[in-house]
Amino acid sequence: QGCKLVGCGSAVPALKISNDDLSKIVDTNDEWISVRTGIRNRRVISGKDSLTGLSVEAARKALEMAQVDPDDVDLVLMCTSTPEDLFGTGPQIQKALGCKGNPLAYDITAACSGFLLGLISAACHIRGGFKNVLVIGADALSRYVDWTDRGSCILFGDAAGAVLLQACDSEEDGLFGFDLHSDGDGLRHLNASIKGNETDHAIGTNGSVVDFPPRQASYSCIQMNGKEVFRFAVQCVPQSIESALEKAGVTCSSIDWLLLHQANQRIIDAVANRLEVPQERVISNLANYGNTSAASIPLALDEAVRSGKVKAGHTIATAGFGAGLTWGSAILRW
Ligand code: ACO
Repeated sequence: QGCKLVGCGSAVPALKISNDDLSKIVDTNDEWISVRTGIRNRRVISGKDSLTGLSVEAARKALEMAQVDPDDVDLVLMCTSTPEDLFGTGPQIQKALGCKGNPLAYDITAACSGFLLGLISAACHIRGGFKNVLVIGADALSRYVDWTDRGSCILFGDAAGAVLLQACDSEEDGLFGFDLHSDGDGLRHLNASIKGNETDHAIGTNGSVVDFPPRQASYSCIQMNGKEVFRFAVQCVPQSIESALEKAGVTCSSIDWLLLHQANQRIIDAVANRLEVPQERVISNLANYGNTSAASIPLALDEAVRSGKVKAGHTIATAGFGAGLTWGSAILRW
């Protein structure tokens, strides 16, 4: 059983925040941000926006492009680390799309690697019998950013992107190879951990509640060691792409596009240099959106497809990396 990409879509909030806007709330400036990161603007959820709403919009566009009815979707994978319900939002998206027959829908949490892991999970599900799998990558990290920390608040934006992966004959297979990793040791470099350990205090050894009332759990803002994350990405991502290429039996010179998680233009350039991929074959849109975490790959893919850059039959080497730490690559055909 093969699988192929048959549609994509994306949605971003209306509120645009420029580097100049940020310079009014933290000690920074447009030059520093654009030289160090390549980012100029980002979109941020506000007012009545919701991440679930953006995800539904992105998913609808992907279904429209694929000309697939929501009733024919049999699995929705919502890849996000910032769900609007602790128990997951996949089923809410399935409901809003009006998929009849209650198809399976659940969330995958893997920060900026979320979409890539969702894509590979979707392919595995298809090999197990599913037919039309919606993979959504969506995050609203602006809700967890420390807006007083100039080292991290300049990086992130909110967005949603989606693709539809469809079962096909093995000759048409559009997933040639992949490579996935994680390293829990790297948590100290990038995290947004739960505050305190509430249950240790709330439940005594005999099961009695010894420290009442229990406090409501909450998460700290994003804590990041930018230099370590940078080093990790520049080292691990090229190795992972090379491994995926080898499994796919494809050489780097024969791929049409390099599409990395959009974290920092300097990371994208360094990985492209290491792999000797010329700039004109590198997809980048982070100047407009910043790092949108799980949304960045499908958002950039959607723009590249709709603008005619990525054409039917093109080969794409894609890679996600981020908190966890998690990272991985896939070689795909559009
Ligand atoms: N404006 C102006 N000056 C700043 C800013 C800012 N926004 N931020 C930091 N500085 C200052 C620092 O205080 C420091 O000043 P000093 O030399 O006087 O001490 C100087 O600029 C250099 O700071 P560094 O942190 O060394 O800058 P660096 O070149 O490492 O760039 C950055 C920082 C952009 C964060 C970079 O390290 C990076 O992009 N790392 C990767 C981060 C990333 O991609 N994270 C997301 C991963 S994906 C996920 O899963 C969420």
